[in-house]
Amino acid sequence: MRFPSNFLWGASLSSYQCEGANLNSDWYFWEKEKGLELCGLACDHYHHYDQDFRLARSLNLKALRISIEWSRICPYPEVFSQKELQHYSSVIDSLLRHNLKPVVTLHHFTNPLWFSDREGWLCSKNIDSFLEYLRKTVETLKDRVDTWIIFNEPLVYAYQGFITGSWPPGERSFPKAKKVLANILEAYCRGYEEIKQIYGRQPVSVSLAKHLRVFEAVPGLGFPLNSIAVGLRDRIFNWQALDYLAKRKKLDFIGLNYYCREYVQAGGLFGCESNYQPKAGRKNHLGWDIYPQGFLDILVELGKYKLPVMITENGTAETEDRFYQEYLLSHLKSLAQAQAKGVDVAGYFWWSLLDNFEWDKGFKPRFGLFEVDYKTLTRISRPFAQTYAKICQANRLEL
Ligand code: FCB
Repeated sequence: MRFPSNFLWGASLSSYQCEGANLNSDWYFWEKEKGLELCGLACDHYHHYDQDFRLARSLNLKALRISIEWSRICPYPEVFSQKELQHYSSVIDSLLRHNLKPVVTLHHFTNPLWFSDREGWLCSKNIDSFLEYLRKTVETLKDRVDTWIIFNEPLVYAYQGFITGSWPPGERSFPKAKKVLANILEAYCRGYEEIKQIYGRQPVSVSLAKHLRVFEAVPGLGFPLNSIAVGLRDRIFNWQALDYLAKRKKLDFIGLNYYCREYVQAGGLFGCESNYQPKAGRKNHLGWDIYPQGFLDILVELGKYKLPVMITENGTAETEDRFYQEYLLSHLKSLAQAQAKGVDVAGYFWWSLLDNFEWDKGFKPRFGLFEVDYKTLTRISRPFAQTYAKICQANRLEL
């Protein structure tokens, strides 16, 4: 299976998870408060970005998705750090020097602490602060960046931070989650217009990275009720926000983060996750149910929006190389099959270029094309990365 000649082969990173020392971020305080593993210096990507981009290029990647740390640009209310804007400007220059197209995310889960202290995304007045950061950043980088992801996974953010309470600010309230989501969607729509205005006639593509998951009802006695929960979860978690944004014509493409299938059982407002183990299939190191068929199904379903799709994240955490290989190849096969069915897929970004800080799970889960030795900060290429490098170079998948 040949991929289009302009297909973007890439990998993803997010600032907080790999940069290290993001001392003004809400996560930095959350880890301490909750006694979690501390992110600390992480991969110290903040000082190693040039070397990391060289590694990405050594795998024949054509693009890299990175994110900007809002709490660096804006460490205190109304304070914009020229030094940090300059830092990200140098990061973009480095990507371009390595022939990597930058795809840039503005919000990847973390907020400046001062923003959270003022009720963060719960308060609609705070949207202006985010837009100010967006404007400054986009204006600084606009001559070298033409693809923006305003938010990473708003539903995951609202779910973890405001329903399960396992991420900051640790709330457990459905009405609050709803409010947060509404404010984020408003910030997205206004941000979309701002970016279009800043670029004027210059072309620019804007989207979000939307996590989509295959939900399936746990079989057995509870099946009928479990199926209702699946319907609700699928509607609310997967499609509602996308429908909303597509209807308002605020998506230039769809950024898709796809990882796994989730078994659901009835309970709570829209069901809950179950650790049911189907006979076929396999769970990864984090217990996620690996389901490449779901990737194909979701891609085909996304076809309804008639927009190009960019796979902004796909990947797995494993303890053996053969499982990474298997995951990569089976998911690329699904991608190729979706393309053969007419779905317009513009690119594929493996999560992640490097092992990094996996939020409340700490450093144990290993998602990287490159393994990171956190003591020495050495990066070591995993064998499956070579498989990926060959596919990127050949621009072809042997099915
Ligand atoms: C996604 C997140 C990313 C990383 C991967 C494993 O949901 O966007 O930051 O945590 O999961």
